Amino acid sequence: MAHEIEEFTGEIKVASRIVDHLSSGIYKSPAACLKELINNAYDADAPNVHVSVKPDADRIIVQDDGTGFSRDEFVAHFNRIAESRKRENSDATTSGRPKIGRIGIGFIAANELCEELEIYSTQINSEELLHVIINFRMMRMDAAERRRDGGDFAKADYVGEILSANPTDHHTTLILKKIRGEARDLLAGVDARHQPGSLYGKSPESITDVLADPKLRSWTDLDLYSQTLLQIGLNVPVAYAPAWAPEAVLADGLEQFSAEANALSLTLKYDGTDVRKPIVLRPGKKRTLTRTFEHRGDRVAARGYFYAQHGRIQPEELQGVLVRIRHAAVGEYDKTYWGFPASEGPLLKTWVSGEVWANDELEDAMNIDRSTLRDVHPAYVELRQALHEFLSLFLKDVRRELYGAGATERRVEQAKGEMRQIERVVADRTAMAPQAMEEMKETWRDEAGSDTGAVKLTRKYSVSQLYDIVIGVAEEVLPKPVLARFVKRLTDRLRK
Ligand SMILES: Nc1ncnc2c1ncn2[C@@H]1O[C@H](COP(=O)(O)OP(=O)(O)OP(=O)(O)O)[C@@H](O)[C@H]1O
Ligand SMILES: [Mg+2]
Repeated sequence: MAHEIEEFTGEIKVASRIVDHLSSGIYKSPAACLKELINNAYDADAPNVHVSVKPDADRIIVQDDGTGFSRDEFVAHFNRIAESRKRENSDATTSGRPKIGRIGIGFIAANELCEELEIYSTQINSEELLHVIINFRMMRMDAAERRRDGGDFAKADYVGEILSANPTDHHTTLILKKIRGEARDLLAGVDARHQPGSLYGKSPESITDVLADPKLRSWTDLDLYSQTLLQIGLNVPVAYAPAWAPEAVLADGLEQFSAEANALSLTLKYDGTDVRKPIVLRPGKKRTLTRTFEHRGDRVAARGYFYAQHGRIQPEELQGVLVRIRHAAVGEYDKTYWGFPASEGPLLKTWVSGEVWANDELEDAMNIDRSTLRDVHPAYVELRQALHEFLSLFLKDVRRELYGAGATERRVEQAKGEMRQIERVVADRTAMAPQAMEEMKETWRDEAGSDTGAVKLTRKYSVSQLYDIVIGVAEEVLPKPVLARFVKRLTDRLRK
């Protein structure tokens, strides 16, 4: 009996449990949480953001002079988070900054740092000062206890009041209280193992000096407090430090990128320290090579620069490629260059540092924690291929112009030294005919200046090779009886 085939259809839904999970804690470090709050201030068009962590991070304050938010906006957003309305009307702020926020969970990241969050906010032309205290106690409770009608999950509760404000004021202040133990230790930089240097209280110029110090191999040579400061500076859209690269390198195409970032006019003070991008390229006397990168494809467009120097880039955190979308970095520098074949120029890859600004097409490829990209996303796949093709050529140039050139230069220098040595060796050989001596010196002096001559002058011989040459010549010019004595003396001398 034939069965009648019955079709069935359905809809697959997502339980809000997953959103609950994603909005509870996805950021990898306190720096990653803090940068969300700073990027919100940037999105609110604030020219200035002040973060205060010291003395011991038992309270963190993030203050900005941006647009602020009203009670209605607060309630609308926090009634159900994870639905950002930020880009509904425009995807740029009034001052023209491309807005970073898009998901609607960055703010709640504060719960990874503290148990209680106090907000003060007011908007221009408003006499209302919004004051709210959010308590995250609920976040630490079981999901079952937090389940509400309609499949939602409660995340926190708050109490609020409206105070009075000056209508010309506009600002937002976040006070993170009861900082959680682990976060406090990281932010305050308590490190029982060693006492490294700190950037606390330093000017951008002195921070640049610290970062340019050849002895600084890694950010981890500094305390945790400083590492947080550097991670934040790398991510958020602050300006570059003054003189972050030599004039000549800047003029090679880096200037435009630096000018674009600086034009966003975001000033961030971290305990009073003026935070800049922690990118400092200091080649010293080393040769450098800089190229700009540009890709305009079907699925994504991007621009950037790649800088190489003869020798490892230090601190090592700058080795690799950093990708930025809307001026916010996606994670950190990637030393693998998005999986560039490990066999191609393993040494030279440590000589390179590059930044790439991708357009919004890549934003979809970004994971929710904003620190990684999805390998299979078409925009990522396309940009990755373009990047790898560019790198292949760039590394070839680096090899030829920096690595190869360096080796030749070193050899010519060595040859000159060898020449001086030869002159010293023959200087008091008075028994030799002056003319033969002159001829010999002339010959080598000519050779010393050229690449091939340098190779000859610095060549190394083994004992057997030396015998081969010297005895060969002796046979040509010495009579037989003298030859035996000559070889015996030569052997005695070589064995000394
Ligand atoms: N400093 C601030 N000034 C003004 N409004 C703010 C500030 N911080 C947050 N907001 C408001 O709160 C909302 C929630 O911020 P949240 O970071 O959670 O979401 P988002 O920025 O829209 O998206 P994303 O999760 O991608 O960051 C924002 O959309 C914004 O309206
Ligand atoms: Mg945000």
